[in-house]
Amino acid sequence: MGTTSPKSPRSTGPQSPKSKEASPSPPPGASVIEPLNTEEQQAAGLLPAAHWQQQALAEEEDDDGSSIITDFASTTASLSSSIFNYRTLHGRTYHGEIGNAESWEPNDQRHVEALDVLHHALMVQLDGKLFLSPLNKEKVQKVLDIATGSGLWAIDFADEFPNAEVIGTDVSPIQPTWVPPNVKFELDDCNAEWTYADDTFDFINMRQLVGIVDDWNKLFRNAFRCCKPGGYVESMASCVEFLSDDGSVKPGSAIDQWGKLFREGGKKFGRSFAVYEEDLQRVGMEAAGFVDIEFKDIMCPLGVWHPDKKAAERGLWYKLAGEADLEGYLNYVANVVMGWSPEETKFFAAQVRKEWNDPKIHGYFWFRVVYGRKPE
Ligand SMILES: C[S@@+](CC[C@H](N)C(=O)[O-])C[C@H]1O[C@@H](n2cnc3c(N)ncnc32)[C@H](O)[C@@H]1O
Repeated sequence: MGTTSPKSPRSTGPQSPKSKEASPSPPPGASVIEPLNTEEQQAAGLLPAAHWQQQALAEEEDDDGSSIITDFASTTASLSSSIFNYRTLHGRTYHGEIGNAESWEPNDQRHVEALDVLHHALMVQLDGKLFLSPLNKEKVQKVLDIATGSGLWAIDFADEFPNAEVIGTDVSPIQPTWVPPNVKFELDDCNAEWTYADDTFDFINMRQLVGIVDDWNKLFRNAFRCCKPGGYVESMASCVEFLSDDGSVKPGSAIDQWGKLFREGGKKFGRSFAVYEEDLQRVGMEAAGFVDIEFKDIMCPLGVWHPDKKAAERGLWYKLAGEADLEGYLNYVANVVMGWSPEETKFFAAQVRKEWNDPKIHGYFWFRVVYGRKPE
C-alpha cells in the first residue's frame, strides 16, 4: 500500500484540525504579493478587470438576456480542509506551509477532480502514452514523479512497470491511499534542494510544472544529480498563449488576455508560466549536463473545431480538463496577484468559457515534451 507521508524535516504534512480563513494572502511562509497596479496591468497589455462584466452586460442586452455565468459552483471546501491546515482563499483551499512553496493551484476536491481529468487529457496529447523517453522496461527500478498532483501518472506508471518503485511528490497530500504497492507519495517542495542521494532514479518525470518552479536550471541540476547515469529525465509543459492562424483569436478577447494574465502573474510571483516560450525545459537540461536531448511539440486545439479527428480529441479533453475548474485555475493569479475582485474574475472566466466553446474561434496552443539522458 502506498502512503502519503512527509519526507524531510521541511515537510510539515497534516497539522491542526482547521483551515485558516482567508485573507487573500500567499501560503504561510511565502512572499507577500503586492497586486499589479492599473498602470502595470495596462503596460502588460491587460484590459481592466471591470471590462469583463461590462462586456457580459452588453452581450446580455444583445442576446436573450440570460446571464453568461452558468455554473460558478459553490466551490465548497473539501473534507480534507477540515483535517489539514490549509489556507482558504476566496472559498478555495491551498497547501499548508512547506518550504517556500507558493502553489497557485487549489488543492480542494473540485481541483483534484480537475487534475484527474487533466491526467487523461495529457495522456491523449501523447497518444495514450505516459512518457516519450526510450526507457528499458527491464532496467527501470526507481522512478520519481515531481509535483504529482492527484497522483494518477505515478499510479499508471507503477501499474505498467510493476517491478519499479515509484515515488510521487507534491506540496499537497491530495493523492489517493489505495494505490499499487509499488507507489508511495511524499510531501516535498521541488524548489528546495532535493534530499535524495546522488544517482538514485532511473527516470524522473516532471509534467505540467508551469507556474510552480522558481529556478528551472536549479530544478534540472537537482534532477541531474539524483538521476542514475544512463537514466532519463522528461518534462512536459503547455504554453499559456493561445494562437490562431486565421486571426480568430482576436486581440482583447478573453482567450488572448488569458496568456497575458498568466505570463504577467507568473513574473510577479516569481514562477514562470512561459516555460514553452522561454524554452526553459531544453535550456535547463542542457545546462545541467543531460545529453541526447530530444523534444516534441504537440499542437492542441482550443476546443473541438479542428477537422483532424485526433487533434479534435486532444482539444476536447483539454477543454474538459480546463472547464472542470476554470475558476480554480484563475483564483490565485487573478484575485491575488492581479488584485481583481472575485466577481470580475467570474465574468472573465465566463467569457473564456464562451470563447473556448465557440466553433468560429480556431485557437490552439503548444505542448512541449523534452527528455534527456544523464551520461554514463
Ligand atoms: C498542474 S498540477 C500537475 C500535476 C501532475 N504533474 C500531472 O501532470 O498530472 C501541478 C501540481 O504541482 C504542485 N506544486 C505546486 N508547487 C509545488 C512545489 N513547489 N513543489 C512540489 N509540487 C508543487 C501542485 O500542488 C499541483 O498538484
